[in-house]
Amino acid sequence: DVHDGEAMFDALIEADGRIEPRDWMPDGYRRTLIRQISQHAHSEIIGMQPEGAWITRAPSLARKAILLAKVQDEAGHGLYLYSAAQTLGITRDEMTQQLVDGKARYSSIFNYPAPTWADMGAIGWLVDGAAICNQVPLCRASYGPYGRAMVRICKEESFHQRQGFEILLTLMQGTEAQREMAQDAVDRWYWPSLMMFGPPDDDSPNSAQSMAWNIKRFSNDELRQRFVSMLVPQAAVLGVTLPDPELRFDDETGRYETGEIDWTEFHEVLAGRGPLNTTRRRHRRDAHEEGAWVREAAAAYALKKQRRTAG
Ligand code: 3HC
Repeated sequence: DVHDGEAMFDALIEADGRIEPRDWMPDGYRRTLIRQISQHAHSEIIGMQPEGAWITRAPSLARKAILLAKVQDEAGHGLYLYSAAQTLGITRDEMTQQLVDGKARYSSIFNYPAPTWADMGAIGWLVDGAAICNQVPLCRASYGPYGRAMVRICKEESFHQRQGFEILLTLMQGTEAQREMAQDAVDRWYWPSLMMFGPPDDDSPNSAQSMAWNIKRFSNDELRQRFVSMLVPQAAVLGVTLPDPELRFDDETGRYETGEIDWTEFHEVLAGRGPLNTTRRRHRRDAHEEGAWVREAAAAYALKKQRRTAG
């Protein structure tokens, strides 16, 4: 009964064990996982848009092939995560409808424009770099299907980050115009990539409970600090400047001090008033509507096949 289930759940969390779909779990645990995993899946799917728009404009066949592989990876990450969310009782259609209706969140980062090829480098280096910092600890999330999905996703995410770094390095070793393009992209993506980790810890309503349930292993600010510490030496190798004049290493604390993040901008983007929120959602809705005939045909075919085998 519920008491045994609750005791079992508490014991598993206490022992840092795994909760599986058929285990008893508190409603709040189920709800926050559906919330986080579906939003994570939506982020992967929407994240395909800025990069997808550059596949036909990549500067070489090799770059086109790499970008194609990356966008395909993200579609796969989205499907893994939707499948993980479905084990909690929400359907794929419900999640898709929430996204198309603008009722679902996805990562703020994908509401920014990607006007130059250097943006493909900045997205790979900064956005996928931030995603790795945030996603590696999620491999140990207490909910089995989520943690296991993250293991495969993290392996592919590392390739995404490396190819972004390499695009920027190539540009920084190019002409003055290419160096300026790379620096401009870093200037535009740096602060929004810090916002990917979520609001400051003292303004993060979900963190305490998520950490108590071993979903979130480190706080938003902790992971943000880890990310900046990773970026500083890599920016030096690239020869780009991180656009934060107050960024400095504090020898006493062993941590980086950064300038103020513009949380007004963050909340504006979350409220749907970012540069491209409407565009991203409309594009997803149009793709969903244009693809309706494929889903109907697949369902009709499956039904026919079922009837044939049922004899
Ligand atoms: N964009 C949009 N919404 C955000 C956000 C962001 N960058 N950061 C926080 N929020 C939302 C939260 O969802 C929450 O709103 P909700 O309660 O309605 O869901 C609210 O702001 C308060 O934030 P909290 O810190 O309380 O929320 P969380 O504990 O959920 O922490 C998080 C936010 C760190 C993003 C966490 O949800 C998380 O780790 N999610 C999984 C990882 C993820 O989604 N990463 C997206 C990266 S993009 C990506 O993976 C694609 C890759 O290819 C680059």
